[in-house]
Amino acid sequence: MDIETTEAAHAQILSEIIEGLSKKQKSLPSKLFYDENGSRLFDEICELEEYYPTRTELKIMSDNIEEIASYMGDECVLVELGSGSSIKIRLLIEHLQSLTAYVPVDISAEHLIKAAGCLKADYQDLVIYPLATDYTKDFSLPEIFGTCKTIGAFYPGSTIGNFTPNEAKTFLERISKTCGKGSGLLIGVDLKKDINILNAAYNDRQNVTAEFNLNILHHINSLFYSNIDPVNFKHHAFYNEKSGRIEMHLISTNKQVVNIEGHKFEFEKDETILTEYSYKYSPQDFAELVKGIYEIERIWVDENNLFSVQFLRAM
Ligand code: AVI
Repeated sequence: MDIETTEAAHAQILSEIIEGLSKKQKSLPSKLFYDENGSRLFDEICELEEYYPTRTELKIMSDNIEEIASYMGDECVLVELGSGSSIKIRLLIEHLQSLTAYVPVDISAEHLIKAAGCLKADYQDLVIYPLATDYTKDFSLPEIFGTCKTIGAFYPGSTIGNFTPNEAKTFLERISKTCGKGSGLLIGVDLKKDINILNAAYNDRQNVTAEFNLNILHHINSLFYSNIDPVNFKHHAFYNEKSGRIEMHLISTNKQVVNIEGHKFEFEKDETILTEYSYKYSPQDFAELVKGIYEIERIWVDENNLFSVQFLRAM
């Protein structure tokens, strides 16, 4: 999820930063986490003992892959929303019967080409149709897939939790329209659980998540003329039980003024910048969210009820 570096995209991200930092509760867009260093740190997070989602989702998928493949259907066009270099997609590719094509959709053309190249080396007969676009905005699938029997989208990792519930609904409506009535959606959804497990997952002992959170400031400094000193901020993540979400913030450790491209932002000591929400859903909450858009056909969960993989059918 690299930020596009065209002039227009650069100006757009600056305006989002200015808008976020001008609000009463200052905020920054979460997509700013993912420069090269941020993507590396996120990969490290996925390996942490405390961060259960990645390995739990993978285990659910590998334990149930035959059944998952049967839900996805034969001659399926597999549309992956987001980066396409993980083991999870390989698991699907290897088990889907007579897969018609794999369509990875990602904002970063560079990332797509790299990932498609790696997959092509291992699966020479696989038809790969990379689509370099922002999948959170309107997009269309290549026309040649209009007549395909089955379209199955794949949205792993509980990335859906990084949208607010209203945004998530709009996003799901859009995906169901893009892939069409009767299309499938295999989606990873993180579940509500013991607060201590949640808090530990976003406050790991090695401080990788802290580094990931602070990297957003380094990234801004690298993109713009700005004087943010990340040493003057510290990581703060907690589960907000009332809202059912993890909130990640950066706390200003002192009173300070930050300058980004000539725009000044004043911080009180202990004032925070909100950098990310990560919503957690009970199966009932999620069913309520998708109501009228998708029919839930099957939910797989792990033995500790930490995470769910769900198969939805567009209505
Ligand atoms: C990408 N997303 C699903 C992660 C999450 O858990 O919400 C991002 C993350 N933030 C901190 N740790 C991981």
